[in-house]
Amino acid sequence: MDVIKYPVDAFYFKVSVNEHLQYKQSFLSMLDKHPEPTDIEKQFFSKIDWVYKNDEREWTTLIGGLINKYNTLIGENVGYCCPEIHNIWFQQYKKNNIHPWHVHSGQFVGVYYIELPDDCPKTELISPWDNKVISVDVKEGDILIFPSMVIHRAPEVINDSRKTIISWNLVYNEIIPSLTEKFNVTQIKIKDPIYD
Ligand SMILES: [Fe+2]
Repeated sequence: MDVIKYPVDAFYFKVSVNEHLQYKQSFLSMLDKHPEPTDIEKQFFSKIDWVYKNDEREWTTLIGGLINKYNTLIGENVGYCCPEIHNIWFQQYKKNNIHPWHVHSGQFVGVYYIELPDDCPKTELISPWDNKVISVDVKEGDILIFPSMVIHRAPEVINDSRKTIISWNLVYNEIIPSLTEKFNVTQIKIKDPIYD
């Protein structure tokens, strides 16, 4: 059976967090109290709190509101509202750490780059349309939001630098009515290669 693939527009977002320097050091000192990784975690990360991804923690109280402010801002750009974070966790990478190719649940993945030295690798996405690898041009203090079905990875850290990110699974529960009202005015007809 032939599987036919058609394109739809997809997108990812990048935004700089204006308040980044206000939060960075307090956040990092909270992570210092986090226990060292288990042997399994150590294969990939220098520290991670994935096991607590559904729990309120000291750092989520500090920074959760800030993240949701940007979730809202980004969603409004494409007609989504009422963002909800389903899980949230941090990951720290040091030399030889890597997060191999994977996908997430939810509608979108969020990544907030708390520490991203110039010699640390940036997130890579695989375009679902042409399977090309996109190295995302992000810097420390940026938030990246991309669709959860996009295969992505954090390439291996080669140098002695430390990279720290917060990641979350994001769902928008509602759409902004003014956007769909516009669709009723501007109907776009796509030619179907089989039936038209
Ligand atoms: Fe991921």
